Amino acid sequence: MKILGLESSCDETAAAVVEDGRHILADVVSSQVKVHERFGGVVPELASRHHVVNVVPVIAEALADAGMDLAAIDAVAVTRGPGLVGALLVAMQAGKAIAWARGLPLVGVHHLEGHLSAVYLDSAEAPEFPHLALLVSGGHTSLVHVLDHGRYVELGRTRDDAAGEAFDKVAKLLGLGYPGGARIERLATGGDPAALRMPRPMAGKGDLDFSFSGLKTWVVNWVHQHGRPEGCALADLCASFQRAVVASLVGKTRDAARRLGARHVQLAGGVAANGALRDALRAAGDEDGFRLFVPPPRLCTDNAAMIAAAGFHRVVRGERAGLDLNAESSLPLP
Ligand code: KG4
Ligand code: ZN
Repeated sequence: MKILGLESSCDETAAAVVEDGRHILADVVSSQVKVHERFGGVVPELASRHHVVNVVPVIAEALADAGMDLAAIDAVAVTRGPGLVGALLVAMQAGKAIAWARGLPLVGVHHLEGHLSAVYLDSAEAPEFPHLALLVSGGHTSLVHVLDHGRYVELGRTRDDAAGEAFDKVAKLLGLGYPGGARIERLATGGDPAALRMPRPMAGKGDLDFSFSGLKTWVVNWVHQHGRPEGCALADLCASFQRAVVASLVGKTRDAARRLGARHVQLAGGVAANGALRDALRAAGDEDGFRLFVPPPRLCTDNAAMIAAAGFHRVVRGERAGLDLNAESSLPLP
């Protein structure tokens, strides 16, 4: 079954064709980083306007890459939320139009279920159910017990900023531009992670929640006292900040895996592209006896292949969205 996946929840316009929820036949992502960069973050109305311009060319490119036309598509999966409503509506309306014109089944997909489904794409091995997921994106940071496709129990979440949001805010403060995660990671490579002792948020609290705003405030105060760092001092600050975020994420994931007796753990969402986090969680798994599954970095950040992968299981279960499907700015995991 070939699913056309569409995604426009934030600043990426994306279309993909995925077969049987696993095999990527085409995966096109048009990034708006250049549009939003000079504002230091995503400007919602600009995002919507650029999605309107890009959505049809991106779909056409995906179909061309897959070497097929719409006649070969069996169903359409679109992101229904959470995200920027004006942005979400663009790919959603394009998906509805295609489904209506071609008489195809349509399903709405939770964006985070998409991230949790990237792990099944183009990989020989996937985590077994039930398993534990650490979901770390620009808007969300959660530990999730994944019971089956489409069945999730959230075990803990951030009480304030998401991990990606903390990376982005610290990068902005340091004048590194938007989006900040990958830029901090690049600078951190040349720095000493032990140079600055930052707090370990929520460590030893006994629950599975996270908090990153205190860490961000620590960096704000440091910059007020010492000025904006350059050269080695900047690299050291980035490396120390990254280590503190990674330590917090890995510590709580280990606690959750221990509690559940989880043997399989997946790492998902944009921050999962971070090499230090991937390495630290893999090393923790080797020590604690769980196996880590993580998609290649390209499939960790926003894309439509993950939406098609999640949509496949919904279509197979017989789920159908009506043409009155609407976008949701916030939405609990199914
Ligand atoms: O999942 P995603 O693409 O979009 C959302 O659903 O939010 O995640 C974007 C977030 C941004 O905050 C970005 O800074 C972060 O993922 N990110 C990274 C890296 N690449 C992207 N954070 C740390 N290290 C990276 N290499
Ligand atoms: Zn995302």
